[in-house]
Amino acid sequence: MRLNVGIDGPVGAGKSTVADAVAAKLGILHLDTGAMYRALGLTALRRNMDVQNEQAIVALCNSLNFAVTHEADGQHTFVEGEDVTGLIRTQEVGMAASTVSRYAEVRKAMVRLQQKLASETDMLLDGRDICTTVLPDATAKIYLTASAEERARRRFLELQKKNSPETFEQVLEEVIKRDEQDMNRPVEPLRQAEDAVLVDSTNLTFDEVVDTILRIVEEKR
Ligand code: C5P
Repeated sequence: MRLNVGIDGPVGAGKSTVADAVAAKLGILHLDTGAMYRALGLTALRRNMDVQNEQAIVALCNSLNFAVTHEADGQHTFVEGEDVTGLIRTQEVGMAASTVSRYAEVRKAMVRLQQKLASETDMLLDGRDICTTVLPDATAKIYLTASAEERARRRFLELQKKNSPETFEQVLEEVIKRDEQDMNRPVEPLRQAEDAVLVDSTNLTFDEVVDTILRIVEEKR
């Protein structure tokens, strides 16, 4: 039987790094689905498009060829054959991704591609709608979260390491704004699937989070 694990949760919950570690321990690939929405957001920004213009963004999405590969150094995300991996991690692209991901036709295209990838090999997917929509029959479903302050604190420390100028207050504001946008959009809002297990990482170390999730996966297998 195909091993598919879904991890959903809000921005800054540590999904990506936790998912990487869990997938490595399980010996399966990790698909970061946010990178695909970011790749679309980046392309819209580069073409000076208005991300609020649903019709134009849907047309753009349908005209583009997205692809993902897994290399020794992790996931690489491609748009029209160009590797955009190094360009999609900015706050600006994250916000654009959050906006374009509100559009139903965009979601349909991304979900289709994610389902295809997950059907081809054992895989762990992280995102916002994995357990509710992309993999309704996943082997194990996790909802990973932490308090907004803790998520902002972690993100702030990361940005400081990169000498980024944001203050803690700005990062917290951004976290709250993105939560608001992701949880209140009409199409596939972020929510915990009924059969997902809640993991609150506010007071857990990274290793404790990874171990907790591995235990849940082993129980469900
Ligand atoms: O996880 P990440 O911050 O890279 O995701 C960027 C944005 O893409 C999120 O704010 C969210 O709006 C959107 N997203 C989504 N569904 C997913 C993954 C990401 O709507 N499965």
